[in-house]
Amino acid sequence: MSVRKEGLPVLTDAFSTRIVEWQQRHGRHGLPWQHTRDPYRVWLSEIMLQQTQVTTVLTYYERFLQRFPDVTALAAASQDEVLALWSGLGYYSRARNLHRCAQAVVSQHGGQFPRSSEQLQGLPGIGRSTAAAVAAFCFGERVAILDGNVKRVLTRVLGFAGDLAQAVQERALWGQATALLPDRGIEPYTQGLMDLGATLCSVRAPQCLLCPVRDLCVAAATQTQTKFPVKTRKLKRSKREHLWLWLCWRDRVWLVQRPDQGVWAGLWSLPEFETAPGFEQHSAGWPGQADRLPPFTHVLTHLDWTLHPVRWTLPADLEEAQAAALVSAWPTGRWFTQAEALAAGLPAPLRKLLLSRRPGGALSRARRARGVGSV
Ligand code: ADE
Repeated sequence: MSVRKEGLPVLTDAFSTRIVEWQQRHGRHGLPWQHTRDPYRVWLSEIMLQQTQVTTVLTYYERFLQRFPDVTALAAASQDEVLALWSGLGYYSRARNLHRCAQAVVSQHGGQFPRSSEQLQGLPGIGRSTAAAVAAFCFGERVAILDGNVKRVLTRVLGFAGDLAQAVQERALWGQATALLPDRGIEPYTQGLMDLGATLCSVRAPQCLLCPVRDLCVAAATQTQTKFPVKTRKLKRSKREHLWLWLCWRDRVWLVQRPDQGVWAGLWSLPEFETAPGFEQHSAGWPGQADRLPPFTHVLTHLDWTLHPVRWTLPADLEEAQAAALVSAWPTGRWFTQAEALAAGLPAPLRKLLLSRRPGGALSRARRARGVGSV
């Protein structure tokens, strides 16, 4: 079925034909972003699905569309509101780029998404694979995608052993992906590759017996599935610890907006201290009561971040000017009521923390609306 050339098999049309047939019979058909050619809806789904599972995306997707039914509505929103609706999905640079992209579509393209993958790629947050997915699904462009799942499928089938940490190898794989495209049926083919990568061709336990391209697959023939894809550059993980100051006054909490770069960029969070002595020095002489809460570790892509929350309750009769003086070290901050805080763009662990320690513990309206479970 396949002919060897330059070390890689040359797959015939059998590959794409089988992918298309398999997608039609066994692939996913009921997802809310399918059966539409509206680029706004397809683009939104593709951005949400980067690094996030379909089941998680489903609720966020519906809620987002209800609040922002089209690109103009999204462009007109505040960044705070966009981040608030994104809160819990993680990788917040996606949300900031999503908002910027909507604004660029409105200001530079009259509110219409460009129709080619090449033009789509020029927009904020849209890389080559996302641009190709939108162009293929919405405009039928014959163009290759290459997200993480599809890299796994193609490197296994082809036995592509080049190190994808090297740009030259990544380019070579793009070339292979393009050479495999069918003349017709780009939508089911694209969806089929995504579905295969997300279901049968899994990272650790691929279900090759059910795979439509098993007899074309070099990795299946040599039982080397888990060796692909090859990528040598490993993320260097690091650890970090901070004290987190949860400062309460009357019914409010003091939150600061995080800088535009770095972890949780642009979200509202608690003031941080690098060391406990640093915090003790800063808070020397403050009135009220301090409670140390159990620390927890939040695991990010590159970082294990241990946070030690300290809840400091200021006396309710503390005057406005005195309270203002205590928080003057954080000029990007402001006091939030609990309801305001829960409606803002918060990092997921802070949302959990605020909900877990509420006086009385009753479920708030915001919590019910977001479907947040107990912690
Ligand atoms: N992952 C990325 N894009 C997808 C899509 N369109 N359907 C399902 N999973 C996906």
